[in-house]
Amino acid sequence: MSFKALKIFSEKPNDLKIVDLEISELTDGDVVIKSEFSSVNYKDALAVTGQGKILRQFPLIPGIDVSGEIVESSSAKFKVGDKVIVNGSGLGENRDGGFSEYVRVPADIVISLPSGLSTREAMTIGTAGFTAALCLKRMETNGQQPHQGPIIVTGASGGVGSIAVQILSKKGYEVVAVSSKDSSVEKLKKYGAKEVVKPENLNLGHRPLEKARWAGAIDNVGGELLSGIARHIDLWGNISCVGLADSPVLNTTVMPLILRGVSFLGASSANCPHSLRDEIWQDLGADWKPSYLNDIINSELSLDDITNYSEELLSRKKSGRALVKFQ
Ligand SMILES: NC(=O)c1ccc[n+]([C@@H]2O[C@H](COP(=O)([O-])OP(=O)(O)OC[C@H]3O[C@@H](n4cnc5c(N)ncnc54)[C@H](OP(=O)(O)O)[C@@H]3O)[C@@H](O)[C@H]2O)c1
Repeated sequence: MSFKALKIFSEKPNDLKIVDLEISELTDGDVVIKSEFSSVNYKDALAVTGQGKILRQFPLIPGIDVSGEIVESSSAKFKVGDKVIVNGSGLGENRDGGFSEYVRVPADIVISLPSGLSTREAMTIGTAGFTAALCLKRMETNGQQPHQGPIIVTGASGGVGSIAVQILSKKGYEVVAVSSKDSSVEKLKKYGAKEVVKPENLNLGHRPLEKARWAGAIDNVGGELLSGIARHIDLWGNISCVGLADSPVLNTTVMPLILRGVSFLGASSANCPHSLRDEIWQDLGADWKPSYLNDIINSELSLDDITNYSEELLSRKKSGRALVKFQ
């Protein structure tokens, strides 16, 4: 049986095409999944356009997310017909990924689809939403609670940010969303943001510590914005660092850490331990499920559309989440 997949052949730009493959040509694994949905994350866009070194080997099928149904299994953990999710864990980085009608992976990276999610909803959330939840999970594990005060979310119109706003607000946090897009204000308020502010209107100051204004942060942007926000985090607050949409640079001092007990927390979805990944997906299928999932889908793509969409995402013509739908 042959099927279609998007394959990247080398680091050279545009050295990719849709190919016909057999299951035996996929990287190894003990379960085969018939893909129902995937999604295009920022990282996928970097891989597909060649603008970031995401793939660790060539040729490879990109796509760090997939949901679908098991059609072959030699693992005791899963049987044919089980609905599952795979995200991160090397998918689309060092093993063939989700931009493929079939995916073969080791059972130990597969997550059972929570009963509260469809395969479509799981990929609407995808790695972006999973990472938003991972951030909050790390913050709460480190003591963050709603009564401490508002959480500021940067890059709020993006995939991670828009889901972070929804989850935080559902969990009872007051949310300040930071977005450079006027067009996102109404939507972010609907998702639960109490306030939507443009980065340039935050007045972040320059002193090592400024007036404490937020109890914590989820930051997708990095650079000056993150450096500035760190100066305003209140006692024992947590800053979850997710992304570098603007810059990987972080200029700070130890003052927020040693005088306010502030913690910087990392969120690395690709290599999140399996047990924590499973716990987060189960939460996302229950009381952490974002309330406006359908709203954040900006495009429904086929394999043919992924390259163009990736360019649009990186040039900021698109924000939100794009689903890849398989027949
Ligand atoms: N650590 C992890 O495991 C992990 C997982 C997923 C994603 N990420 C990273 O998290 C970041 C956000 O991912 P995403 O999927 O939400 O991306 P996205 O949908 O493209 O959103 C990024 C948002 O960041 C804001 N932004 C600010 N300055 C920007 C700039 N110079 N260029 C582009 N965007 C800028 C924009 O929001 P506004 O217009 O609203 O300001 C944009 O919508 C990315 O850096 C991504 O690589 C990390």
